[in-house]
Amino acid sequence: MIPLFILLLLQISASPAASGSVDATFLQCLSKQTNQPAQVSKLVYAQSNPSYSSVLRAYIRNARFNTSSTPKPVLIVTPTDETQVQAAVICAKNIGIQLKIRSGGHDYEGVSYISNVPFIMLDMSNLRTINVNIQEQSAWVSAGATLGELYYRIWEKSKVHGFPGGVCPTVGVGGHLGGGGYGNMLRKHGLTVDHVLDAKIVDANGKILDKNSMGEDLFWAIRGGGAASFGVVIAYKIALVPVPEKVTVFRVEKYLEENATDIVYKWQHVAPTVDENLFMRMLVQPVSSKTKKGEKTIRITIIAQFLGKADELITLLNKEFPELGLKKGDVLEKDWIGSVLWWGIKDNNTTPNWLLDRHPDTADFTRRKSDYVQQPISKDGLEFIWKRMIKLGKTGLVFNPYGGKMSQIPASATPFPHRAGNLFKIQYSVNWEEPGYELDKNYTTQIRKLHHYLTPFVSKNPRSAYLNYRDLDIGINHQGKKSYAEGQVFGAKYFNANFDRLVKVKTAVDPDNFFRNQQSIPTLPKKA
Ligand SMILES: Cc1cc2nc3c(=O)[nH]c(=O)nc-3n(C[C@H](O)[C@H](O)[C@H](O)COP(=O)(O)OP(=O)(O)OC[C@H]3O[C@@H](n4cnc5c(N)ncnc54)[C@H](O)[C@@H]3O)c2cc1C
Ligand SMILES: *[C@@H]1O[C@H](CO)[C@@H](O)[C@H](O)[C@H]1NC(C)=O
Ligand SMILES: *[C@@H]1O[C@H](CO)[C@@H](O)[C@H](O)[C@H]1NC(C)=O
Ligand SMILES: *[C@@H]1O[C@H](CO)[C@@H](O)[C@H](O)[C@H]1NC(C)=O
Ligand SMILES: *[C@@H]1O[C@H](CO)[C@@H](O)[C@H](O)[C@H]1NC(C)=O
Repeated sequence: MIPLFILLLLQISASPAASGSVDATFLQCLSKQTNQPAQVSKLVYAQSNPSYSSVLRAYIRNARFNTSSTPKPVLIVTPTDETQVQAAVICAKNIGIQLKIRSGGHDYEGVSYISNVPFIMLDMSNLRTINVNIQEQSAWVSAGATLGELYYRIWEKSKVHGFPGGVCPTVGVGGHLGGGGYGNMLRKHGLTVDHVLDAKIVDANGKILDKNSMGEDLFWAIRGGGAASFGVVIAYKIALVPVPEKVTVFRVEKYLEENATDIVYKWQHVAPTVDENLFMRMLVQPVSSKTKKGEKTIRITIIAQFLGKADELITLLNKEFPELGLKKGDVLEKDWIGSVLWWGIKDNNTTPNWLLDRHPDTADFTRRKSDYVQQPISKDGLEFIWKRMIKLGKTGLVFNPYGGKMSQIPASATPFPHRAGNLFKIQYSVNWEEPGYELDKNYTTQIRKLHHYLTPFVSKNPRSAYLNYRDLDIGINHQGKKSYAEGQVFGAKYFNANFDRLVKVKTAVDPDNFFRNQQSIPTLPKKA
């Protein structure tokens, strides 16, 4: 059942002779580069180290990649300071082995810790300092910090500042900011990367660069172009945003029997255009019918955040979206950190300390895909989609409305191009709890089919996708002779017209293509 090429690879990477020699050469180089031979042995985990598998598993966030057949790093390096990151880059380059970079490990395809060629994994989780400066309304955040830790550290110093990052507190800063990042304040404040002021990275020569020394192009590329194609991010400096003392949240469910189709239809017109203080995410899921035993139906769930008071929100929605019938009893006022907790867990008794918990080594089996909707889908179209979803059985959709600040920022301001012209983003989502080849095949087929059925309703030429919702179905860079052509396939989807500039930056800063992965930016083809 395991493809032959993976078996062969496993034999290569697990063979003691091959990995043993990499271990020795790499350790020697690292000792020399860091001048800390005594420290080095504590930073590096070989496959024979009893802690190897717990260190590897600590930030695996998709159980699909937690199996014995998942390709594993020859070595894991866990730097505690930036000079050790420099040394790891230099030494991996010297011995000609691929280096993977992992911060929070949330990559949907495990690109930060899986490769089909022998590789070393750089685990950034020990680089997690956060320095919040309220006077400057900014913070330096190390790549290995989590969003939850960042929100907590801001809250410790101010109750009226926040940061427009993702809603899952265990997501890592390194991958999230490198790939764009958005959360429930995107209509008010734009993307996460719209708030990056400076960065510290280690480049392919092992040099530390900041915004000034890296230059405008590279600084542009690492704010959404996938930083892993360009270097190792040590830390980002971010701008905080003001948040009101009270924000309002709600969660409302409707079934098809309760006119959910009409509500979804109207949502497409309201959610992307309404007051930018309001973000209304919508989940669409096939579920068992409440009224007809044994039958399936569609349930929608609107989960929303309003940067303002409850009364104001109810007045606003009763005017703009009366179909929803929002009542006072449906909404909750919270301080901003309370809203972060509510989005994370929906439990009244959790305290902000929970945000410091990294919840290591737990995960469902998951598959994700993404799409952009640029024209409202008709009611007939929606009903067609519901029928397909009910038939498929388990794959859900999450609609994330755009508009507001998101669409006012030019598409070329950052590598993330999906701004004006997009009504909402769809995330396709299927989770399951049990291992096994049959289930994996079933749900993989399901999510691909649903993505196929939605073709008439979403962006075309290219059919766009969100880099931070990594999806290897849309193309893979095999790093061979066709690297540029392959890169163009997924690159046009993730970056639209910004792909060309990313290629130019890549060619200038990493001409030897040291920083590479399954979907890294290619260099320009060399002229014959
Ligand atoms: C449960 C869950 C919830 C999510 N919620 C949101 C959300 O609300 N909003 C949103 O926008 N996205 C969300 N995402 C997607 C998330 O933003 C991306 O998966 C992001 O890339 C994760 O960052 P990470 O550091 O945790 O991941 P990793 O797997 O560590 O890294 C992801 C990619 O970035 C690279 N990388 C990581 N660290 C560095 C570094 N220091 N320097 C250079 N390259 C690096 C990796 O090599 C890899 O290519 C969610 C994902 C999950 C699993
Ligand atoms: C990985 O599998 C082990 C059992 O082999 C389990 O204990 C652990 O929780 C799993 N971790 C994830 C992230 O799935
Ligand atoms: C659904 O819409 C119909 C027609 O507009 C209306 O009569 C009915 O009351 C609605 N049902 C619910 C549960 O809102
Ligand atoms: C949380 O509090 C709200 C309002 O006080 C209440 O309606 C709700 O049932 C509570 N939820 C839980 C899970 O305790
Ligand atoms: C595939 O998943 C669907 C939905 O959960 C289920 O109804 C079906 O029986 C599954 N098929 C197999 C072969 O597991």
